Amino acid sequence: MAGGAAGVAPQGWALDARGLAFAYPGAAPTFSDITLAVRPREIVALLGGSGCGKSTLLRVLAGLQAPSAGDVRFLGAPLTEPSPRSALVFQQASLLPWLNVTANVGFGLDFARQPKIARDTHARRVRDAIAAVGLAGSEKRYPAALSGGMAQRVALARALAREPELLFADEPFSALDAITRAEMQTLLVDVVHRWHSAVLLVTHDIDEAMLVADRIVLMGGRPGRIVREWTLDLPQPRLADTAALGALRLDILAALHDQRAIPSSS
Ligand SMILES: Nc1ncnc2c1ncn2[C@@H]1O[C@H](COP(=O)(O)OP(=O)(O)OP(=O)(O)O)[C@@H](O)[C@H]1O
Ligand SMILES: [Mg+2]
Repeated sequence: MAGGAAGVAPQGWALDARGLAFAYPGAAPTFSDITLAVRPREIVALLGGSGCGKSTLLRVLAGLQAPSAGDVRFLGAPLTEPSPRSALVFQQASLLPWLNVTANVGFGLDFARQPKIARDTHARRVRDAIAAVGLAGSEKRYPAALSGGMAQRVALARALAREPELLFADEPFSALDAITRAEMQTLLVDVVHRWHSAVLLVTHDIDEAMLVADRIVLMGGRPGRIVREWTLDLPQPRLADTAALGALRLDILAALHDQRAIPSSS
């Protein structure tokens, strides 16, 4: 299967951000003093209430936005722009309506910033990614003929086709119904394990974080900071372990409650 982590020392960080701060022009700081690292193949959930700065932090970590202070290193090198060795998935699948599933998944693989790949490698990557998300047989369909869940599968396949070392995902399943969301959460864990990719998953869904993450990082306060962290050593799939998940859920809820009581420093 596609190997993402080649070239990364196992003990090294995929992503290593230190002392990050960010403020939108003319506004109070969105977050400050954020230090966050992601290991190769690790799934980290960044959890926090609406407006605490999760999406802004994700954009800074992905190289889409420069921080006001601090450094981001990706695969050991300073990050100044989005890396072709990372991929992004958002709440909306953002497919190109005039391209079918195959062309949407392959879209961008040939862009100048991307590593050069042979034609057959391109075709193989697209085919493998489509099969992995369960869309074999739907290659010729256009986005208008896809359900929301299928469209998000295409978006995930498009990310996998890049064989990313790190997948940035910003609430990728929050627009889906509960049943489809649960399927997609299971699928995400399965495919990133097979692709050897790390994941930074932004979510405000505690259950989603508990079901998919190796580590949960709670963001809160104003300006936003990392206020708590939990390492989950529960095996996958996790739905069966209701006692452990119930206890963790209560702990996270208590921490969320506490961080909302943190007085504003801005
Ligand atoms: N382009 C922008 N210009 C100015 N302020 C912004 C911009 N984007 C976001 N903000 C503000 O920055 C803060 C953090 O927003 P952000 O979208 O990062 O939060 P979030 O945690 O992702 O929220 P949600 O869970 O609702 O997606 C909010 O107060 C928001 O209003
Ligand atoms: Mg957001």
